[in-house]
Amino acid sequence: MTVTDYFMTMQYGTAPESDSAARQWLAQHRSRFTHFTAGRFTKPGDNATFETLEPATGQVLATLSQASESDVDAAVKAARKAQKGWLAMGGHGRARHLYSLARMLQKYSRLFAVLESLDNGKPIRESRDLDVPLAARHFLYHAGMAQLQDTEMTQWQPYGVVGQIIPWNFPLLMLAWKVAPALASGNTVVLKPAEFTSLTALLFAELAARTLPAGVLNVVTGDGTVGEYLVGHADVDKIAFTGSTEVGRLIRSQTAGSGKGLTLELGGKSPFIIFDDADIDSAIEGIVDAIWFNQGQVCCAGSRLLVQESVAERVHARLRDRMKTLRVGPSLDKNIDMSAIIDPTQLQRIRQLVKDGVRQGGELWQATETTLPEIGTYYPPTLITGVQPASTLAQEEIFGPVLVSMTFRTPQEAVELANNTRYGLAASVWSENINLALDIAPKLRCGVVWINASNLFDASVGFGGVRESGYGREGGLEGIYEYLRPVSWAKAPALKTGRKDSRTSAVPVQNEFEVPGIDRTAKLYIGGKQVRPDGGTSVAVTDSDGKFAGEIAVGSRKDIRNAVAAARKAGSWQNATTFNRSQVLYYLAENLSYRAEELTRRLASTSGASRKDATREFELGLERLFTFAAWADKYDGRVHTPPLRGVALAVNEPIGVIGVICPDESPWLSMISLIAAGMAMGNSLVLIPGNQAALLATDLYQVLETSDVPAGAVNIVTGDRLELAAVLADHDDVDSVWAFGPLELTELIQKRSVGNLKRTFGNEGKAIDWQQWTAADIQLLLRQATQVKNIWIPYGD
Ligand code: NAI
Repeated sequence: MTVTDYFMTMQYGTAPESDSAARQWLAQHRSRFTHFTAGRFTKPGDNATFETLEPATGQVLATLSQASESDVDAAVKAARKAQKGWLAMGGHGRARHLYSLARMLQKYSRLFAVLESLDNGKPIRESRDLDVPLAARHFLYHAGMAQLQDTEMTQWQPYGVVGQIIPWNFPLLMLAWKVAPALASGNTVVLKPAEFTSLTALLFAELAARTLPAGVLNVVTGDGTVGEYLVGHADVDKIAFTGSTEVGRLIRSQTAGSGKGLTLELGGKSPFIIFDDADIDSAIEGIVDAIWFNQGQVCCAGSRLLVQESVAERVHARLRDRMKTLRVGPSLDKNIDMSAIIDPTQLQRIRQLVKDGVRQGGELWQATETTLPEIGTYYPPTLITGVQPASTLAQEEIFGPVLVSMTFRTPQEAVELANNTRYGLAASVWSENINLALDIAPKLRCGVVWINASNLFDASVGFGGVRESGYGREGGLEGIYEYLRPVSWAKAPALKTGRKDSRTSAVPVQNEFEVPGIDRTAKLYIGGKQVRPDGGTSVAVTDSDGKFAGEIAVGSRKDIRNAVAAARKAGSWQNATTFNRSQVLYYLAENLSYRAEELTRRLASTSGASRKDATREFELGLERLFTFAAWADKYDGRVHTPPLRGVALAVNEPIGVIGVICPDESPWLSMISLIAAGMAMGNSLVLIPGNQAALLATDLYQVLETSDVPAGAVNIVTGDRLELAAVLADHDDVDSVWAFGPLELTELIQKRSVGNLKRTFGNEGKAIDWQQWTAADIQLLLRQATQVKNIWIPYGD
């Protein structure tokens, strides 16, 4: 084309970025790579190898090694060896290292960006302007975290060795999101990059080794089996995973009962909601960022467009016009908007999902103006309108440049459609009416909301989801705590097993002919009412001397289901003001104190504690209620000021419905602590008391009834703990289960939590000291009772 032609057509020419530095680095390694362990590339052994392709051309880029179990073991050993020294270096020492890693990314930013675009197929504009700078930002931010750790997080300690498994959509950025907080907090790392995109991780490890002590960061390459080895390794203390929900589920089951920490950042089907008063032109650009950024291979991609009916036609028409101008081409061309899909298998998956999906309805549109390069794995920007909310297209994560559109009439309907998904990662809300946007944001079940924006990220703002999008947060203050544990919990000894169940079927023998006390019928407490168990069964329980102490109702599956339904209905508690919640907790303590004598006596007789110890435990319970009442209106969120035009409100939201299985240890104090923490943060609870506390729980509900606790906020079901716990863990409307008891209980809960991927928390088979609590113990409970939603709001100029 001549210059005149360009002027006449207004078409862009190509502007290829040079790949020479990246090719040179590949050549230095003869395009063959091994694992990076203990500060160096491993010797090429008889490992199987595989090829990594350049998506934009389909050419082979390099040959990589498939790690064996012993390669993973060597990497874990190297990480273990390095961990003590790394921690002992102190926060400031680690801060210096992280600072130099941030600088390293900046010094070699061009090389990283080009290599990333070659290996992943993403437009160089994105890797240059987003992936690499944001990765550097994460290391710099976490240099600060390391610096502050020794003074601000004194009662917390790192897990130890962390296994990290990352996907292929943001290879370097995911490395930064995972490695920076792990290293900052004193852990060492074994990282497994995705098999399609391991090169920038290897480059990173190689350059980092110039300053980083050997073994602090290790990289093993290969497919999912390498991930499995890492997850299954007995000497790994925590797994952090980003990837598909299916693999997230596998990892949850595989680690159940192992004591390993776990964070999961999984898929999404995020809504992009346009109200009729939105600035439509801006919203159209927002959509381009939301779904065509990185070819839509983004876990938080705004892949479901929800448009208010009155503007739907206008939005669709403008969107089609905009789609005509999107340029698809080779990843190193600085002038293109979209490039290649990661791999032929993914391309095929997208094609199949679209083909099958449109059979269920919907109108598919692709611009005839879009031209795709003849070789490489390309898929055009795609819009499908008139999709049914229940269809595959509206429910499945396509992970490609495919936007599906639905309409709504009222804000209420928009919220219902938005939440009509098993995922809950992000959402984007477009309206010029800030009242409307801020009314909607809290109602969306997700971890991130962008108002009049999409796909904004910063290291200071946590990222992560709810429901089947996983749990845990990356970035921000909440992100660093994912890599730390309170010292007291980390050091807690294993729980001694073999405790005798205090239940008995023996019928008490009455020897005296005296007028008995009036029979006391212990019931369940569901939806604010004392109810008889569905199965019509009670069981006798003994005191610490093995003597008959009373009877408790035996709850069943049906009772748990009723209790969960009542808890879900207790919206008034979740929406209660924090002032109100704190008042109720103080009042509960006040009313319990009136019954101190009776409760202490019962505690002493059922647990075998001396009267003095029982009194102390009872009083500590009242103190715990005061502590969490105090936090109820003080555990506030934050206002982040990321380096963008806007603020992000980090709001602590309740988790929702929490199943609480109480331990036998410190039966009164542990039960009260868990109730207080859960309630203070606005959760509704289904409580299964420990064996020792079952009778006490029946006293407790009488006090709950008279302490302004709304119906359904706390439900109590007594009975066989393991049996009831299993029902709670299986239940799809339970958002989290706190399980305290023997290790088999943790294992059971974690294994069975995979249905809706509910969160789990508990003692992991350890003996928790419920009496001597530090600030970190309280914080841990508060963190488990809340999840952060980050709401990004344009602000200032
Ligand atoms: P994937 O979940 O299989 O892969 C992610 C990482 O996990 C890779 O490093 C992989 O090697 C590893 N892995 C696979 N199986 C494993 C196992 N059993 N144990 C431990 N690690 C294992 O994702 P994949 O197959 O690459 O993509 C499939 C779909 O997953 C995509 O189409 C997309 O829908 C979704 N996905 C979501 C991502 C997100 O960020 N939410 C990222 C990547 C994929």
